[in-house]
This record gives sequence, structure tokens and C-alpha cells, in this order.
Amino acid sequence: MLSKYQFEYESYASIEDLKPEDARLLKEARASTRQAYAPYSKFHVAAVARLANGEILAGTNQENASFPAGICAERVLLSLVSSLYPTMAVDTMAISYNSTQVDSDHPISPCGICRQSLLEYEGRTGQPIRLILGGMNGMVYIIPAASMLLPLSFSGQDLGRV
Ligand code: THU
Repeated sequence: MLSKYQFEYESYASIEDLKPEDARLLKEARASTRQAYAPYSKFHVAAVARLANGEILAGTNQENASFPAGICAERVLLSLVSSLYPTMAVDTMAISYNSTQVDSDHPISPCGICRQSLLEYEGRTGQPIRLILGGMNGMVYIIPAASMLLPLSFSGQDLGRV
């Protein structure tokens, strides 16, 4: 038997085509890239979340001279949200980046470790995290749920825990 995995996402030519509240979140993510600490990669990433209570919080990547000690913007943000509000759902997360080395003109997608963390957060709150992905300019993708980026995933259920 052959199984197939497919998912649908939205593509927009630019931020101008987004709904105002989505455009606002992506704008905040673009602006927040200035807060990143990325002296090694010079790849400044920001993730900005709109929480279920309407609050907006930002996280940025935090690097370290011992490279593996660095943390991605998405996981910095999830840790911040979870520490402030342990049961709060994240409605939408916008992710942007600004680099001195490459053009920041297309969307980037969360790395594998962040996908795993996003999946766990969705499981904890029982709600999907909608993703808005875009660079400093150019195309924007909207993905209805972060878990769509991690098919056949491993979770606490496999350990017999929830
Ligand atoms: N990075 C993020 O913060 N989020 C992503 O989605 C991709 C990569 C960071 C990690 C590292 O500090 C730099 O970008 C280059 O990989």
C-alpha cells in the first residue's frame, strides 16, 4: 500500500496582500530581527506570536561562541510564552529574518528541532499554531498548523505519556 502526505498552504506575492492583523505581525517580526544576537551567522531571525489572549510577544535567535549552544528564535519565543503563561495557546506566529550574507527576500521555514518544539506546544494547548513566513520583502507563506511541517512525527504519545 502506498500512502501519501499532502498539505495546503497559502502563498502571497508580498506583505501588502495579507489581512491587516497578519501584516502587522509580520511587520513586527521584521522589526524584531534587530534584537537578534547573531554575531556568528549574521542571520538575524525573529519570531512574533499573537497569543490566545491577544498579547503579542517576540523572540530572536541567541547564538554562542560554542555554536551548538545557540537557540533559534522560535524556541526562544515558545520558552518565553510558556514561562509567562504555561497554558496559553499561540494563535499565530510570524517568522522573519535579515541577513548580511544572503538576500532576505523569501520565506524561511522553521528548522527540524523547532518543528518538534512547535508540535509539542500545539499538543500541550490542543490548538494549532498558524505560521506566517516571510523575509524582509518578497513572498509570504501562511501555513495553517505548524504540525503540518512534521509528518509522521514523534510525540509524548509514543512514550505512553501526553
Ligand atoms: N535560526 C532560527 O533562529 N530560526 C530558523 O528558523 C532557522 C535558523 C537561526 C539559528 C542560527 O542562529 C542562525 O539562524 C543560522 O542558522
